[in-house]
Amino acid sequence: MTALVVHPQTQPLLGGVPVPSDKSIGHRAFLLAGIANGTSRITGFSFGADNVSTLDAMAALGSHWERDGKDAVVVKGTGLFGLIEPKGPIDCGNSGTTMRLLAGILVAQPFATTLIGDASLTRRPMKRIFTPLRERGARLHGSSNDSGEDRPPVHIEALPEAERLRPLQYASPIASAQIKSAVLLSGLYAHGATQIFEPSISRDHSERMLRALGVPLEAVGSLVTLDPAGWNGMLPGLELALPGDLSAAAFLLAAGLLVPDSQVTVRHVGLNPTRTGFLEVVRDLGGLLAVEQEGDEAGEPVGRITAAFSQLRGTKAGGETVVRAIDEVPILAGLAARASGTTTIRDAQELRVKESDRLAEMAAVLRAFGVAVEELPDGLVVEGQPEGPLKGAHVDAHGDHRIAMTAAVLALLGDAPTRIEDVDAIGTSFPRFVGTLRALGANVDVVS
Ligand code: S3P
Repeated sequence: MTALVVHPQTQPLLGGVPVPSDKSIGHRAFLLAGIANGTSRITGFSFGADNVSTLDAMAALGSHWERDGKDAVVVKGTGLFGLIEPKGPIDCGNSGTTMRLLAGILVAQPFATTLIGDASLTRRPMKRIFTPLRERGARLHGSSNDSGEDRPPVHIEALPEAERLRPLQYASPIASAQIKSAVLLSGLYAHGATQIFEPSISRDHSERMLRALGVPLEAVGSLVTLDPAGWNGMLPGLELALPGDLSAAAFLLAAGLLVPDSQVTVRHVGLNPTRTGFLEVVRDLGGLLAVEQEGDEAGEPVGRITAAFSQLRGTKAGGETVVRAIDEVPILAGLAARASGTTTIRDAQELRVKESDRLAEMAAVLRAFGVAVEELPDGLVVEGQPEGPLKGAHVDAHGDHRIAMTAAVLALLGDAPTRIEDVDAIGTSFPRFVGTLRALGANVDVVS
């Protein structure tokens, strides 16, 4: 297992850097390319391991992918009804999005499948997708654990030849793009309409991409309707360039906000409003950000963001803003560690069932750096420490990429080098993270 040693930053971080391709958009592109009629070409891809899990899963089901040059992938799809029975269980690696979205497609197939994952994914709840999919006639189950929740491996039974999935109207108790997307993907195969309602709008990449491919889909507020009546059941091959991932950019922007005299620019980053809660909370913290919209990529707004060193002040974040910043809560807690006063983050209970229990892990990381924090059932209360360095620390990321990258950013402010254990998972979302930090002027060693 790899560890990082991050040295205290003695100079400003300066420069403009690219970020990896958007992981969420990548998953959707590769799933839909796998069931499209014909060939897709997807460029700007960074080969993050989670997205490769989706490509490999679709290949196990009969589609074909190959690399084309530095950053492109060509996928030959099978058509909606052309997937074939895989030879064994499909390994989704560390990727919950792969497992949950793929299940939405697999419940409609005339063959059985089993989805497996790594130790972290095997701890994550799957009942949230079983409930709506079962309501429309799907037969799938997981493995029970002590809390009675269904966990991977996920076993999906064949849908008998004579059956189709039924129409569905589902009000999700959780604002979750993974639940919504699994339901919408199953809706491609259903006879009749799919309607999904969520408490607030989660990321809407699936809706945008499906609509762009000609699927009859309408969204009004947080109610999405997909009605295949009149649709020919064919997805054309995709031609798209993936935008950069704001969730990855957030770590670099945070480093720019925290290290004195820094100025960090990230280019060509997705600015979909269902993803920009991070930028809003940073502004509430008093962070200096300049956002310039550059146009559209793959039906998604993209732009350039610059962050400059800022005197931060405590704030409160919760409600739908947190849904739109759900993957950025760890690094927001990291920013709060350097704000004057108290920052309270609420409505983030979903963080307990991510790649790790991110509320517990962040509380442990902040304490290791000498920052006072209280853990709430659904959030964190952070007492900022804006003056002087943080304590150089020895922390364990426990295989969670976002905890590892947050710790690396805080380590820049330490009074001594910080060692971060178990960081390999950074490669799931940001394979060039260390190189990018170094390009900005950070001093980071990769050690084993
Ligand atoms: C994702 C949705 C979110 C997010 C995850 C990616 C997606 O999960 O945390 O990293 O691509 O649909 P939930 O749907 O569980 O909120």
